[in-house]
Amino acid sequence: MSVWPIFGKITGPIILIGFGSIGRGILPLIERHFDFDKSHFTVIDPVDTHRRLLDERGIAFLKEKLTPENYRKVLTPLINNRVGQAFIVNLSVDVSSLAIMKLARELKALYVDTVVEPWPGFYFDKNLSNEARTNYALRETILEERRKTPGGSTAVSCVGANPGMVSWFVKQALINIARDTGKLEKEPETRESWAALAQKLGVKGIHIAERDTQRARHPKPRNVFVNTWSVEGFVSEGLQPAELGWGTHEKTLPDIGRTHQTGCGAAIYLLTPGANTRVRSWTPTPGPQYGFLVTHNESISIADYLTLRDKDGQAIYRPTCHYAYHPADDAVLSLHEMFGANGKMQASWTILDEHEIVDGVDELGVLLFGHEKNAYWYGSQLSIEETRDLAPYQNATGLQVSSAALAGMVWALENPQAGIVEADEIDFKRCLDVQRPYLGPVVGVYTQWTPLDGRPGLFPEDIDACDPWQFKNILVR
Ligand SMILES: NC(=O)c1ccc[n+]([C@@H]2O[C@H](COP(=O)([O-])OP(=O)(O)OC[C@H]3O[C@@H](n4cnc5c(N)ncnc54)[C@H](O)[C@@H]3O)[C@@H](O)[C@H]2O)c1
Repeated sequence: MSVWPIFGKITGPIILIGFGSIGRGILPLIERHFDFDKSHFTVIDPVDTHRRLLDERGIAFLKEKLTPENYRKVLTPLINNRVGQAFIVNLSVDVSSLAIMKLARELKALYVDTVVEPWPGFYFDKNLSNEARTNYALRETILEERRKTPGGSTAVSCVGANPGMVSWFVKQALINIARDTGKLEKEPETRESWAALAQKLGVKGIHIAERDTQRARHPKPRNVFVNTWSVEGFVSEGLQPAELGWGTHEKTLPDIGRTHQTGCGAAIYLLTPGANTRVRSWTPTPGPQYGFLVTHNESISIADYLTLRDKDGQAIYRPTCHYAYHPADDAVLSLHEMFGANGKMQASWTILDEHEIVDGVDELGVLLFGHEKNAYWYGSQLSIEETRDLAPYQNATGLQVSSAALAGMVWALENPQAGIVEADEIDFKRCLDVQRPYLGPVVGVYTQWTPLDGRPGLFPEDIDACDPWQFKNILVR
């Protein structure tokens, strides 16, 4: 795009927490798309490896580790001593999203993040039950805060690529399938009408189906975890229990599956770490593939959003929904190495930047299955080459995330009094319009693939031949 649009004016200070792979990636997008006062922009991170990018722009850098003890003291003056409405963009690890979101709203600042992150300790606390270590539990803390403090200044929870953008893809995919099957009467406008459309189409399940083919110039060294985004973030979520929105068409709970006694009830968890739990899925480039059932907020929020209930509150329709993630090949090797060492993370790690990657595409979309046309993948196929042309300081994975966070920021600025919202609840068309220039080809592809293709093979298998879309057929045992 030769002339990039300015989406609005941020009248007060901008505070960017975390200057890692996504924090650096969103910097040029904020510069490009908002009118703001650079002298009121502060970046906070305990690590100053990349502060040169800020120094050369005259943006303040605060080398500080936010903690439960200091975050109010550090953040409050940055907001209160300045005029205008502040904007906090939280792209850190080990900083509680809930704590920062609450403070932002107390100070009437706008807020976005890309994950419900806890303070350190939560992910690896052996004293917590597996149920307590779920994203379901983390998401419930945000929903509880919303119930306690309805309305107020806007905080968009979990607006990255996934969670985030994929919720907008689900809506576009539902419309596309409805159109292609002659079932679109009117585009849905409410949560209930989206759920009713998914039910009418017969959607039994949704995979967040991703294949990252980005390849490093140099082979992965032994004992180094290599990834295309936060290694700390990936290892933390990868060691949480696998979690999935649990569809009403499912006949049996897996023997390793557990339900929750409190909360929205839309999801279950498995007694296995997500990054060591494989599922059968499909994306356009490889076709059928194994993905990891890593827990993600959107597995629960999308399933919750698309739930229809009867008058007694019983769920009568809900799709199964989960991540099926094939990360970059080096990350797959890294997981294999880590789980081989009893889940002990490697001595060091690296996030591949745009110069270390030789080629590849992050193919990230949603696979909606069980309907009249079998299965439909809708998503972004962003290559590293196109990424380099679009924006600096990031790889293809990073740009899919940073541009989604940009769209969340635009929506918050245009809707500053919406209270706490999730990506599922905000204007998906507006967000995709903002984000689309950064997504490479965005395509929709039908496939006749099912998880029963070629099965049983040479060995006996416990499969449900009557319904290919039972989770039992998808889970690799
Ligand atoms: N929704 C999505 O699509 C999506 C995708 C990728 C990453 N994420 C999330 O975005 C966040 C950032 O990801 P990333 O790839 O940039 O991670 P990263 O590991 O590259 O960067 C995280 C940054 O946070 C900083 N940090 C650590 N402790 C801190 C503290 N106490 N106070 C302030 N800063 C602190 C680190 O020094 C680091 O620079 C992670 O939480 C990750 O899970 C979401």
